[in-house]
Amino acid sequence: MNNKPFYITTPIYYVNDRPHIGHAYTSVACDVLARFKRLSGEEVFFLTGTDEHGLKVEKSANAAGVSPQALADANSQHFRDLTQMMNISNDDFIRTTEKRHIASAQKLWQDMQARGHITLGSYSGWYSVRDEAYYQESELVGGKAPTGAEVEWVEEPSYFFKLSAFGDRLLEHYAKNPQFIGPETRKNEIVSFVKGGLKDLSISRTTFSWGIPVPGDEKHIMYVWLDALANYLSALGYPDTDARLYKTFWPAALHMVGKDIIRFHTVYWPAFLMAAELPLPERVFAHGWWTIEGEKMSKSLGNAIAPGALVDEFGLDQTRYFLMREVPFGNDGNFSRQGMINRVNSELSNNIGNLAQRTLSIINKNCGGMIPQPNAYTAEDEALLADAKNLYILPEGKGSSLHDLMEAQQFHLALERVLELSSAANAYIDVQAPWKLKKEDPDRMNTVLYVLYCVIRKISICLQPFTPDSSSKMLDQLGVAENMRDFAYVGEEFCPRPGTVLLPPQPVFLRFTEKAA
Ligand code: MSP
Repeated sequence: MNNKPFYITTPIYYVNDRPHIGHAYTSVACDVLARFKRLSGEEVFFLTGTDEHGLKVEKSANAAGVSPQALADANSQHFRDLTQMMNISNDDFIRTTEKRHIASAQKLWQDMQARGHITLGSYSGWYSVRDEAYYQESELVGGKAPTGAEVEWVEEPSYFFKLSAFGDRLLEHYAKNPQFIGPETRKNEIVSFVKGGLKDLSISRTTFSWGIPVPGDEKHIMYVWLDALANYLSALGYPDTDARLYKTFWPAALHMVGKDIIRFHTVYWPAFLMAAELPLPERVFAHGWWTIEGEKMSKSLGNAIAPGALVDEFGLDQTRYFLMREVPFGNDGNFSRQGMINRVNSELSNNIGNLAQRTLSIINKNCGGMIPQPNAYTAEDEALLADAKNLYILPEGKGSSLHDLMEAQQFHLALERVLELSSAANAYIDVQAPWKLKKEDPDRMNTVLYVLYCVIRKISICLQPFTPDSSSKMLDQLGVAENMRDFAYVGEEFCPRPGTVLLPPQPVFLRFTEKAA
């Protein structure tokens, strides 16, 4: 097993908003990967948190008639609650108003400044509060930001980061590290953006005060994106580069972000780190955006879906599964209620749930509730066991294994592989019809049920990162010891012994039915 430490981060969420499924999506994707890596025997540090400074938060607080700190405290808690609700296994939760973060962001600034990459000047140009981003006149579309956000004219003294000096080094980095930006289409966008020439970046503001003071010039506060990006270092103990976490986990293995913030993570962030002479993260992956029943999710349409509403109606693991399964990871996708019902019923309930329920109830009824003793395998048994064997790691050159798909953040395909195995097992059970064999050929019945048992154990182990609670219930029912559930034990040779007594079966993935009005 690979024991390289794995540091994974979500973006830190703005506290002007309540959590919606877009936020839950990024967090669940990171969680699935963090759990997958832990099960693979890697040491993992998984960070999430909240982004609390900036004009957007200050304005929202003013509009609500509360202090920015009070707004941040209340809304940060909602994001913390979201991690609990979605069963996110983060190791830390960082807030940018914490002392440890302020010290880290200021030190990053000083590191960049000491090396001559920051100069004082004055900024005049367009700024979008919603995007917390500067735009060139030439980027505006019909007087608005390219994202559709309103822009305002800003003129003030400002410190600048000499981003223009980093274009060639960034391009060289992308070329030498082809995995640095994923998916490929996003990489192409970023490369052409950088090739188009980079302008120096305004990194301080003087016309409002909700931010981290610039070291040595307290009339200025730091640009919220410089402040926010530093969070990835702060949580590891930076500026103490001898801190255990920093030494173990920096540079990050993966920053997971939405497509809207890829530029900040693959242009500004690596340039800041180069300027401070700190190592760069290994990879940034940008996922797509969700629309709701075909419409953009927006405050004005009031159509944002609260993750809690989905969890209450469909179940936690069902919601996690849907988010990871419905849309090819990296693409945009659409949430529809019908889509959710279809995934829950046809895949979780009819396919996987039904396979487990059918098999375990026959074992319970016909085998005295014990794992049956297999006899000689037929070609059909061997074929299904080979499929199961190949699920996690495939022999060289035979397509993509679950392991490879997870490494490439292709979560929807990883789940498809699990479903394919489950479908094959359902087809096998239909043909073998073990329920008929009790009288005709009990030895054969035992073999068929044992083969199915092995396949269900494999499926349950592999689903753990996606549906942790349900998988754990399945593994309990299968009599798999808690310390034998990681990928080191995925092989058939680690199946509990025939004769092991099983708990009475209970359905795990229930069918969703609409409540009568
Ligand atoms: N605070 C910044 C990130 C700073 S990271 C150093 C930010 N916050 S955010 O709250 O606006 O967005 C956080 C994440 O949620 C982003 O990755 C964004 O792409 C994601 N999503 C917000 N709406 C979304 C959808 N409708 N669909 C999918 N993800 C979306 O940006």
